[in-house]
Amino acid sequence: MATRTLVLVRHGEGSWTRENRFCSWVDQPLSADGEAEARRCSRLLAAAGIRFDAAFSSLLTRAIKTAWLILEGVGQAWVPLAHSWRLNERHYGALVGLNRAQLALNHGEEQVKAWRRAYDVRPPPIDEAHPYFDEIHGDRRYASCDVPRGKIPRGESLRDVLERLLPYWEGSIVPELRAGKNVLVSAHGNSVRAIIKHLEGISDADILHLTIPTGVPVVLQLDDELAPVGERRYLGDTAEIAAAIKRIEDQGKAPKGASASPDPRGA
Ligand code: 3PG
Repeated sequence: MATRTLVLVRHGEGSWTRENRFCSWVDQPLSADGEAEARRCSRLLAAAGIRFDAAFSSLLTRAIKTAWLILEGVGQAWVPLAHSWRLNERHYGALVGLNRAQLALNHGEEQVKAWRRAYDVRPPPIDEAHPYFDEIHGDRRYASCDVPRGKIPRGESLRDVLERLLPYWEGSIVPELRAGKNVLVSAHGNSVRAIIKHLEGISDADILHLTIPTGVPVVLQLDDELAPVGERRYLGDTAEIAAAIKRIEDQGKAPKGASASPDPRGA
């Protein structure tokens, strides 16, 4: 049976990762560690003998740079790289820029987990008064999208992410996979979760438990119908990957001994 390889990568660390803030559609660059993570991805992919024919990324610099570094690192800087806002991170709405641990103190860990991982829970929407509204919604990269500026999301559940992602998946990525090509998608924690949910048929309830580590190639073999063959694989050291997933999950825990603090934006 012929298969093709799909590699999904959640970009590496950005400067807000350390500050534990929701970055979402804010165009924070990769940190030096994030660049090193992308280079490590390329070494893992080269060692696994994986080569690409087509590549896709979101419109956010951290995912684009990750794709560049991976393609350069595997000696394939020539592979065509297409971009779409439809692969962007989930729009975290009014939560953009806020600290997850502080939110857990003020709203409870369960609420933060639901905002981050539940399928159908939308964050409160961003409005014009939000400190990052103009930076995001006024950005010229969204002026030439396939939807008018006014239709760009203002806060998304994972379901919303999957719904806005699917037209690009079906229209641009699926044709490459159907043609038997190996494809790299450099995206974000929640856009990668949405693609995996779609491909593997993960239930709305079970997707709560899927967290994607940063800077780890997630490899799927797909048959002619684009159904996964075998289990998805994470390239790299299993214990390190488990620790990386735990670190991301723990971002939403309230620090012990700290107390809730009122915030003018409801954080
Ligand atoms: C962000 O938007 O900051 C992250 O890329 C995703 O964050 P999450 O792991 O809290 O969903």
